[in-house]
Amino acid sequence: MGVIKNYGHLLPVTEKTPQITLEEGNTPLIYYPTISHDLGINLYGKLEMCNPTGSFKDRGMVLAVAKAIEEGARALICASTGNTSASAAAFAATAGVPCFVLLPAGHVAMGKLAQALMYGAKVIAVRGNFDKALEMARKAAENDGYAIVNSVNPYRLWGQRTGAFEIVDRLGDAPDWHALPVGNAGNISAYFAGFCQYKEIKKSTKIPRMMGFQAEGAAPLVTNKPCPNPETVATAIRIGNPVSAHLAREAVEKTNGEFNSVTDEEILAAQRYLASKGGIFAEPASCAPLAGLCKLKREGRLPSGITVTMVQTGNGLKDPDTALKQVGKPIEIGDTLDELLAVMKG
Ligand code: F0G
Repeated sequence: MGVIKNYGHLLPVTEKTPQITLEEGNTPLIYYPTISHDLGINLYGKLEMCNPTGSFKDRGMVLAVAKAIEEGARALICASTGNTSASAAAFAATAGVPCFVLLPAGHVAMGKLAQALMYGAKVIAVRGNFDKALEMARKAAENDGYAIVNSVNPYRLWGQRTGAFEIVDRLGDAPDWHALPVGNAGNISAYFAGFCQYKEIKKSTKIPRMMGFQAEGAAPLVTNKPCPNPETVATAIRIGNPVSAHLAREAVEKTNGEFNSVTDEEILAAQRYLASKGGIFAEPASCAPLAGLCKLKREGRLPSGITVTMVQTGNGLKDPDTALKQVGKPIEIGDTLDELLAVMKG
């Protein structure tokens, strides 16, 4: 059905809002038996990578694009580390509006770049980082007829609340902890707002501790100061000055949650762990929460028996380069059964 049809009654939707959809949302919430056992918790993954463009962005983007059209926009613009641009380009394509995307040159995963180009967006590589590109996109959007669809657009965060609604609808109540990767800090703010809204209308009895994980080389919310030269293998969250920092801080403070950082090595180890023990191949940024939970477990700070949901924000297929650098090559053999049997015997 999509986010607008499914949850429109809880969102700022009017009769005039175009009913565009790529059937985003309604993503699986899966239980990880082996990892839960290892960590001594009940661990669920919200598979946002199952959205039509392979990331959580589609939930908010559908609403941002619909409202932009409702309000008379003639073109969309965004800056992105990759996933926002893929999503904006896809919804622009289905809605039939032009879309300009600004990417940090040389720092976007291959799959995401291919997506934006295939959907037909005008793709502009900026020789600078994401923060700089966003500043440029915001300025350019001041021109008449342009709608910025980054998470500075409030409709993005409204749409992304629906991830929290679905988790509660599925579990029957909110989890004890909710863990997610933090880049520009929109998603953690949106989930917090969603959990609050659901509690207000008595769909849940509690609000989870919001646990935000950043990459060590791009951790402005952990260090409490902007990071002028963010660097991490998790390019999706390579962000030094998050626009929703104030909302994210509020989410963490009000829930007694925390921001924490994990190293690139920990992120990549978690990516392999999630794939090989959980059966889910998520992109590096998506694995920061699992890396964080493993770190808290090592430090003796992960209470046993709690229910934790983590957001698998993007698909591992978007960034095959980073994956292939970590794992061995296939074993090549000739086309004889003997060679195959020799390999199988090890
Ligand atoms: N995970 C993935 C896969 C992302 O693409 C992003 C952000 C995040 C986590 C962090 O979410 O920004 O709401 O804190 N990607 C943006 C983009 C910045 O341009 O695609 P956030």
